[in-house]
Amino acid sequence: MPELKRLHAGHAPAVLAFELANRAYFAASIPDRGDDYFERFTDRYNALLAEQEAGICAFYVLVAEDGLVLGRFNLVDIEDHAAILGYRAAQRAAGRGVATATVRELCRLAAAQHALRTMRAAAARHNAASQKVLTKAGFVPVGPADPADLGGKPGTWYQRDLVSRA
Ligand SMILES: CC(C)(COP(=O)(O)OP(=O)(O)OC[C@H]1O[C@@H](n2cnc3c(N)ncnc32)[C@H](O)[C@@H]1OP(=O)(O)O)[C@@H](O)C(=O)NCCC(=O)NCCS
Repeated sequence: MPELKRLHAGHAPAVLAFELANRAYFAASIPDRGDDYFERFTDRYNALLAEQEAGICAFYVLVAEDGLVLGRFNLVDIEDHAAILGYRAAQRAAGRGVATATVRELCRLAAAQHALRTMRAAAARHNAASQKVLTKAGFVPVGPADPADLGGKPGTWYQRDLVSRA
């Protein structure tokens, strides 16, 4: 069974392999990270760990039994019992409910371990798979997203109240 684990330094090689293997797949629906991300991967990864250490963010990786990363699920801008959710799941596991199940699990974990009461996520209008993940995990649309937050594409903010479902 794949396991959702808190990101740590030892995950770095598997996370880089995941980002490289799925780069073109992700770029079809969300903005590409750019060459600079891969060239300066270690610096950026260490910066993420520092942000996590500071409590601003909480990063999770879904790790398969063979050690490969199947997905990344991130809580960012944690403040006032709320956070923004971001996620990406591997092409090799696409359409099997991996992202939906993991977002549901993260909602439980966010309430229990991070004392979150509300989670928000933005999805571009063209990103039907992401919208489906959010609605199936109990998020509801709450208003338009700034295209600047979605690589220039129009989209929607979704929200889920964690307290009433915890
Ligand atoms: C969005 C993403 C996380 C989905 O991962 P996944 O594990 O394949 O998702 P799931 O299998 O849990 O659910 C996907 C749902 O979208 C549906 N779907 C997939 N592509 C679709 C499309 N083009 N149009 C409509 N529905 C689509 C699937 O059928 C499935 O719904 P179902 O379970 O009712 O059949 C993955 O595609 C991804 O990482 N994309 C790139 C990054 C990204 O978009 N992140 C979200 C940013 S807001």
